[in-house]
Amino acid sequence: MAIKPVLRMGDSRLLEPSRLVKKFRTPELKELIADMRDTMTSLQGAGLAAPQIGINLQVVIFGVEANTRYPDAEAVPFTILINPKLTPIGDKIDEGWEGCLSVPGMRGLVPRFVNLRYQGFDERGKKIDRKVSNFHARVVQHECDHLAGILYPMRIRDMRNFGFTAELFPGEDIADD
Ligand code: NI
Repeated sequence: MAIKPVLRMGDSRLLEPSRLVKKFRTPELKELIADMRDTMTSLQGAGLAAPQIGINLQVVIFGVEANTRYPDAEAVPFTILINPKLTPIGDKIDEGWEGCLSVPGMRGLVPRFVNLRYQGFDERGKKIDRKVSNFHARVVQHECDHLAGILYPMRIRDMRNFGFTAELFPGEDIADD
């Protein structure tokens, strides 16, 4: 278990599609998830995808309690999601501010589906199948985008809504990355 360096935008490894996990309950998978959890916790992230620590596998983790990075966000249960499949429910889209540990110090306004079904597996290979909305749905879409090599700035519709957190939200106590 270790805190790993997080790759930053510009590193071409973040642009590669990730591979499916074929075997569950392996020591390698267990170690990967522990490293991801340690790394996300140390940086107070809302989520982390395996490619962000240089591992090209379809594994994401996410979860939000009280989080200084997202002070107004609702809680999202800590989840390990492997080989995810996302299905939007309806076509309602909302824009919301996002940050990313691979794009430190910045925020952007990103459109996401409001209602989402996501399926996949936990670390033991047990099925996950949930229908979620709003912030929970946003976090899942953000993290799963990483598995397709997509970083949130690529989805911003109006680049005037992209910038440094300290400039966009002066005086607000929001963590820097
Ligand atoms: Ni991210």
